[in-house]
Amino acid sequence: MNSLWLCDDFKDNRFFGLDKDVFCDVCIIGAGIFGLTCGYYLSKLGFKVVVVDKYDVARKTTGHTTAKITSQHGLFYTYLVDTYGEQFAKDYLFANENAIENIKDIIDTEHINCDFEVQSSFVYSTDISDVEKIKMEVDCLNSIGFPANFVTKCGLPFEIAGGVQFKNQAQFNPIKYVNGLCNCIIKNDGNIYTNTTVYDVKNDDDLFSTFTVGGTIKSKYIILASHYPFINFPGMYFFKMYQSSSYVIGVDTKKTLFNGMYITSSVPTYSFRTAFYNGKKILLLGGCDHKTGTPVTFEDSYLNLENYAKQLYPNCEVLFRWDTRDCITLDKIPYIGLFSSTIDNFFVGTGFNKWGMTSSNVAANIVCDMILDKTNKFAYVFDSTRVNPIKNRTEIKNMISESVSSLALKKLKDSSVSFDSICFNSGGVIDVNGQKVGVYKDSSGNIFAVKPICTHLGCLLSWNDADKTWDCPCHGSRFDFMGRNLYDPAFKDLETFNLNF
Ligand code: FES
Repeated sequence: MNSLWLCDDFKDNRFFGLDKDVFCDVCIIGAGIFGLTCGYYLSKLGFKVVVVDKYDVARKTTGHTTAKITSQHGLFYTYLVDTYGEQFAKDYLFANENAIENIKDIIDTEHINCDFEVQSSFVYSTDISDVEKIKMEVDCLNSIGFPANFVTKCGLPFEIAGGVQFKNQAQFNPIKYVNGLCNCIIKNDGNIYTNTTVYDVKNDDDLFSTFTVGGTIKSKYIILASHYPFINFPGMYFFKMYQSSSYVIGVDTKKTLFNGMYITSSVPTYSFRTAFYNGKKILLLGGCDHKTGTPVTFEDSYLNLENYAKQLYPNCEVLFRWDTRDCITLDKIPYIGLFSSTIDNFFVGTGFNKWGMTSSNVAANIVCDMILDKTNKFAYVFDSTRVNPIKNRTEIKNMISESVSSLALKKLKDSSVSFDSICFNSGGVIDVNGQKVGVYKDSSGNIFAVKPICTHLGCLLSWNDADKTWDCPCHGSRFDFMGRNLYDPAFKDLETFNLNF
């Protein structure tokens, strides 16, 4: 089963690979929502734009999101005010509120039919002990001028202890939306090349050369809009971000569904929204987050969500099942702006912390203003070149929890299993003559063996039994059971072995 958004009814396969050298004003690496929004704005302003992607359009995070368009990013504003002050929190919030309006404007202006619906967004808890911090968040939001409400009733099919409501947020079908952006880019004389791997970028004589398997793209500006910045230096984003995995199921509940978009205020995280499929409203239930690279089973992920859906809707039918990866920054604020303070005209937008449908529009506006040499009053909040001292206990807690998680993963690095203990349709790392080998046995007992060393910076991979992939605990690259690269920052496949036992 695949993502609802990437089912045959919606996905766009019309583009082809680059097969020649080309010149343009702006080369955008990555055809997800951020890259395509930049392409839309810039091509409309008359820039010659080329968008290039290793896969088809929006096949990674954009095609696997829950697609909520909102400035409500969990119980976030108390943390922002405590850490960075009221003005900073206000600017973060209104940058995202503006983005909601911008997305609506694009949809209206370009007549994009993408199931856009204005909805309220809620962060809620069923636990009475969470109510105090929920009320604090509401007070904090009101004090910076945002009309958030404290609620004890909402549309969910169970009682809640309390929640924060943001009105006038939205949801949409992200693939229908980006298909509309692609149409505009083509209409504005831009080009989109898919299935084209970029393997290097160089800068000579005020021009960038982006080297791909099919040809070289020369441009004055570069926007790195890939899922994770796969160019390591001098940006060094691998020091500043990790990836988080989560899971979504699409369910026909056989019941009338609620309005609104919902997420829990604390762990375990569950996310609810509705979507349209075959003229019917279905439930999208998400959750079971974990740091990418932590071993996970089907029971921990999809089955957990399915059991929860059945508890709420006993006759429900699961129609879709998918997983997603998000880049998480240590201070929980995206990186938007220059890729590095040492290179002009090279921009990045990344680390959207699971809220990329909205933050990607914030990012596109900031980057486009930088290209146009215009001041953007929100740019300082997201400055990608920031080196902030740690400001408070919450931030220290964030950092420590990530380090502890890395230490736990270090231990896993030393654990190998025996070949015989690997069940059919499962995998693990074994020792063969002192060498680590990653083994997957398919359901018929065929063996696929890889060198389980990440091709990004060399971390030992771990087996993900829910999705049958090799995942990297360091920065979240993923490979399928045959060693083919699926997710950046790695872009090379794994070495494979022929095991003869
Ligand atoms: Fe960086 Fe694997 S993703 S070492």
